[in-house]
Amino acid sequence: MPTRLAPEELRSHRWFGPNDLRSFGHRSRARQLGLGPEDWQGKPVIAILNTWSDINPCHLHFKVLAENVKKGVLQAGGMPLEIPVMSLSENFMKPTTMLYRNFLAMEAEEMLRCHPVDGAVLLGACDKTTPALIMGAVSAGLPFIFVPGGPMLRGQWRDQTLGSGTDAWKYWAELRAGNITQEDWCDIEDGIARSHGHCMTMGTASTMTAITETLGLTLPGASSIPASDARHWRMAASSGRQIVENVWNNLNPSQFLNKAAFENAIVADMAVGGSTNAIVHLIAMAGRAGIKLPLEDFDTISRKTPRLADLRPAGRFLMEDFYFAGGLPALLKQVEDILAGDCMTVNGHTLSENIADAKIWNTEVIRTRDNPLSTEGGTAVLRGNICPNGAVVKHSAMEQKYWTHRGPAVVFKDYEDLAARLDDPNVPITGDSVMVLQSAGPLGAPGMPEWGMLPLPKRLLEAGVRDLLRLSDARMSGTSYGACVLHIAPESAVGGPFALVQDGDIIALDVPNRTLTLEVSNEELAKRKAAWKPAARKVDRGYLHLFLNEVTQADEGCDFRFLHYTGTPTPEPRIH
Ligand code: FES
Ligand code: MG
Repeated sequence: MPTRLAPEELRSHRWFGPNDLRSFGHRSRARQLGLGPEDWQGKPVIAILNTWSDINPCHLHFKVLAENVKKGVLQAGGMPLEIPVMSLSENFMKPTTMLYRNFLAMEAEEMLRCHPVDGAVLLGACDKTTPALIMGAVSAGLPFIFVPGGPMLRGQWRDQTLGSGTDAWKYWAELRAGNITQEDWCDIEDGIARSHGHCMTMGTASTMTAITETLGLTLPGASSIPASDARHWRMAASSGRQIVENVWNNLNPSQFLNKAAFENAIVADMAVGGSTNAIVHLIAMAGRAGIKLPLEDFDTISRKTPRLADLRPAGRFLMEDFYFAGGLPALLKQVEDILAGDCMTVNGHTLSENIADAKIWNTEVIRTRDNPLSTEGGTAVLRGNICPNGAVVKHSAMEQKYWTHRGPAVVFKDYEDLAARLDDPNVPITGDSVMVLQSAGPLGAPGMPEWGMLPLPKRLLEAGVRDLLRLSDARMSGTSYGACVLHIAPESAVGGPFALVQDGDIIALDVPNRTLTLEVSNEELAKRKAAWKPAARKVDRGYLHLFLNEVTQADEGCDFRFLHYTGTPTPEPRIH
């Protein structure tokens, strides 16, 4: 049995307990909130970090979700405090929510540190909110549980199911190719997002919540429950009850977020055919726990992990199907032999204990171990003279003929250049070409937006072309697909070899051998490097100033340098 804290050992007791002037202030102001000693005395104070906003449809239900967490906290004898933090609304925030992931992480960390709280429940779902909240909470060092917001209902257009993002890209290409009408396109707009909740493809949101569950940071099965299913409210209340217990038992994720837990998370990422974005986020999350995840770890684990979830964009089904097929526990059970099953989780049980009885109910949606979609995971890490610090490709979601491809580069120096010249008949893009987009990385864009699924020229779409080899230092949406090599590091804006690519250079991709090669001599590259000049910063004030000075490259997780784990916890604030 774990030793339980005494009430005087609660962190919040330092605010409410002492008989001094400062604590008088805290207590009298708590009374102003309508609270009394029966609310705080000897009770764990639980912060509910809520990323609700009017402009975040993925988190539209978070006010009610928070109420359900509060109910659970109260049932277990704790005191809930809802604290709003920044909401990163993937679709609306420009140029990209990635620019603000670290901002939310800082806010979450500081909100927990400065307030009289003993533990936290984190409400997140939409892409960057999950890694951001976890990065912040890990750095704050308090016990916490993550409540994933849940996927939205499957989209529907006539007799076709529609997946977030994925089917928007797909039908946009069909519209441009003249295969569907404007009216069809409007109907698709009407039916692709039918309820609150995050994207219901295996995009970044579903990938990150699956990873979070595998890390042991949610209750078992939590990440697969659809947002609008009543079981989701009950999971939130259970999480509220659990965090109160965890505070008393001092069960803190910092005790179990070790290298093995992060390797388990990579197994889950590969087995679900997860988003490429997960790589950047996992490196950053692990970094906050003092754990290094070199890109090679992803490749090593990818090569031994079967892909089992047949979910869009790499497959056919959607998250609702995944839930009813058994959800994440059923999938993890199939790969238990390559998981460290003894890793602890927030319910006080090990990962193996949590998945002991998990079963698959639909073996088309979740394949069994002896009948995988592929024997390898969905993502590969590439190396070569064009990307000395790595690049990633989701080879499970591209036409296989591009796994080995050699062709001439067509270079766009930035996104504006791409937009201006994409459909220019004088730009010689053919089925053999390698489209190159520069200045789209963490510093170049800035913020490493999801521009990596470069659009195809209209004339190629009309000719029936649906894929092409594309290279960038950007990311792409987890709902995207195609032969898109991403996260090229170092990025072009810092003068990496990727900055030196010119029109007509031959580029060779070899996914089976994990190489990406610029077939230009070292002498020629040295000459080009000598002539290369960095672009002037377009903006250099405010938050962007901080971002541009402190962000790291993709292979380092794009965290800020000053937020990395140092081995010395930030001191508790003085209560005076
Ligand atoms: Fe929020 Fe996709 S837009 S998860
Ligand atoms: Mg996304």
